[in-house]
Amino acid sequence: MFIQQAAKAIREAELGGPLTTIDDGVLTGYSGEKLIGALQRLCRLHDGDPTACYLEIGVFQGLTLLSVAHSMPSMPCHGIDNFAFFDPDGANLGIVEARRAALGATNAHLINEDYEDALQDLDRHLEGCRVALLFVDGPHDYRSQLMCLQLALPHLHDQAVIIVDDSNYAHVRQANRDFLVTHPEFRLLFEAYTRCHPQNMPQHEHDNACKGWWNGVNILVRDPDGTLPASYPPTERDRTLFENDHILHASPAAPFLPAASGLVSAIDRLSPIAFLAQAAALKLKMRGTAPARKGMYRAMNTGSEGLPEAIHHHRDQD
Ligand SMILES: C[S@@+](CC[C@H](N)C(=O)[O-])C[C@H]1O[C@@H](n2cnc3c(N)ncnc32)[C@H](O)[C@@H]1O
Repeated sequence: MFIQQAAKAIREAELGGPLTTIDDGVLTGYSGEKLIGALQRLCRLHDGDPTACYLEIGVFQGLTLLSVAHSMPSMPCHGIDNFAFFDPDGANLGIVEARRAALGATNAHLINEDYEDALQDLDRHLEGCRVALLFVDGPHDYRSQLMCLQLALPHLHDQAVIIVDDSNYAHVRQANRDFLVTHPEFRLLFEAYTRCHPQNMPQHEHDNACKGWWNGVNILVRDPDGTLPASYPPTERDRTLFENDHILHASPAAPFLPAASGLVSAIDRLSPIAFLAQAAALKLKMRGTAPARKGMYRAMNTGSEGLPEAIHHHRDQD
């Protein structure tokens, strides 16, 4: 019954977009209109349940958190963000607080922490509530995507729905798949994708993504009775990129490899000027960190220096 209602809420969001419209300019951010409509409608399914709350990871300037809190004033709505990204002027926390005040959304609560710290200590914030709708829109690396799901799991409501934004990304789909395979009591209820990231689209297509689900979405639902067939978001069988993680972690060049991808694309574009400019910037970045890299091996760095030879964690009874 709940799963039917959730499916209906998603279909209605596809047709109708957001439930409440808020004055232009009060709320802006990075989420599609259908997605906001789905968040609002899925929360509404729990209207009247005092044990249910909404939790999102990745608040930015509050578009999704405040859209939900505004449409569900009786539901506690929690948003985790450490405001460490997309915030060059350090203004986002203040923007969310000002918008929350403008909307009178006193049920919206900010948890200004890294998601891992916040999720590991979540009971302190939930005050006995269970997370009926979890919206995952924070860090998008594979490990964080999976950890958001794993760490939130003990706090989820019996009738929980999980919405994972940015599921266009292959590594986000892989994390969702890995979670679904290892937690068969959850099933994939809905998935939607676009052919590329909206930022890489021409204007008219970008506008459609804003009206739609933005950068792809996977919606998971707790389904202990297996009402839905087991199905998974599409992923590649070749796992080389994930396996490369081991080489990256053990390399002394690891901190510089994201910046070095610019060098590779300059080579690809046969652009010597871009190559030299990027190489110079990289060298500058590396210079300050030379002492930290002293003594590292060319490869297979384990990071285990200083660890004890052996520890027994089981003590024999006296
Ligand atoms: C794409 S934005 C969220 C967009 C927002 N849901 C909206 O509707 O506009 C991602 C957010 O995740 C936050 N974030 C990234 N890594 C984080 C981490 N490790 N812990 C907490 N928040 C994080 C960033 O600060 C950023 O504000």
